[in-house]
Amino acid sequence: MIRLDHVSHMYGAGGTRRQVLFDACAHVAPGEVVLLTGPSGSGKSTLLTLIGALRAAQTGSMQVLGRELRAASSDTLIEVRRRIGYIFQKHNLLECLSVLQNVQVSLAAHDDIDRPTARRRAIDMLDAVGLSAYLDRYPRQLSGGQQQRVAIARALAGRPRIILADEPTASLDSATGGEVAMRIRELAKQEGCAAVVVTHDQRILRIADRVLQMEDGRLTAAPPGPEKTLGAHGVASNSAATAPSTGVPGSMPNRRQTVGWISTARMLGTCLPAGMPAPQAYKIPSTPGVSGG
Ligand SMILES: Nc1ncnc2c1ncn2[C@@H]1O[C@H](COP(=O)(O)OP(=O)(O)O)[C@@H](O)[C@H]1O
Ligand SMILES: [Mg+2]
Repeated sequence: MIRLDHVSHMYGAGGTRRQVLFDACAHVAPGEVVLLTGPSGSGKSTLLTLIGALRAAQTGSMQVLGRELRAASSDTLIEVRRRIGYIFQKHNLLECLSVLQNVQVSLAAHDDIDRPTARRRAIDMLDAVGLSAYLDRYPRQLSGGQQQRVAIARALAGRPRIILADEPTASLDSATGGEVAMRIRELAKQEGCAAVVVTHDQRILRIADRVLQMEDGRLTAAPPGPEKTLGAHGVASNSAATAPSTGVPGSMPNRRQTVGWISTARMLGTCLPAGMPAPQAYKIPSTPGVSGG
């Protein structure tokens, strides 16, 4: 779904030209949640915007949703962008639009979705993130966590094949951040989306099938840890992670559970923060499919 082969990136020109990404190789499969961590300035956002077709790939090969993005036409970039849901730290909601309008307007770019369908889908998605009572509010009337949930609804309303999130929990408290992270994971698992989440937030390591590390523009798999193994479908198979999702501490929805989108959102709204296991229980093994440069 996402495949990078020897991708490098430079900013600037002439004397100010500077390489910030070196020979990155990785792939992300459908349904896989990959976390990208690393120090500030190491190139994480640059990589994410390249994957997201928000800037042109300069070298190597960048295949996203079956399209080569290096030297791609603007039509190709736009087409790929349409199938990606972006979630940013700064949610970039439009202050002059209501919550419902913010989500609905994101569907305007989809030629195949008419206005009534867009409206219905926006309402459903906002319901799924627990905001059905806030449809007519404006962003400034919501808390930070609620605003970020609107941003998630907006990103996911178009049923993207890929979710790209850049520090989505950075401005959120631990409970809300946990909710946001789980929602991303859940969509990836239910819809078979690939998700790449840039984060410094140790608290959300648990949502990852795999962790990549960026350092000085070089991408590597995070160091292996003994405590977490991944079962079939990439679901964490330590006991905390496979406990039934009843809301007890340590629980986490299993991919195979037929937990409905909406009911799960409600459950997350009430129990997830308590269900966040200690991050150290989620050391991530090194995995194939990634190499640094
Ligand atoms: N548009 C840009 N023009 C020039 N340099 C940039 C630009 N965006 C980011 N950089 C530089 O590239 C490096 C990587 O930035 P970034 O990808 O934002 O890192 P991270 O997301 O890991 O903090 C930093 O040194 C940053 O200053
Ligand atoms: Mg960044």
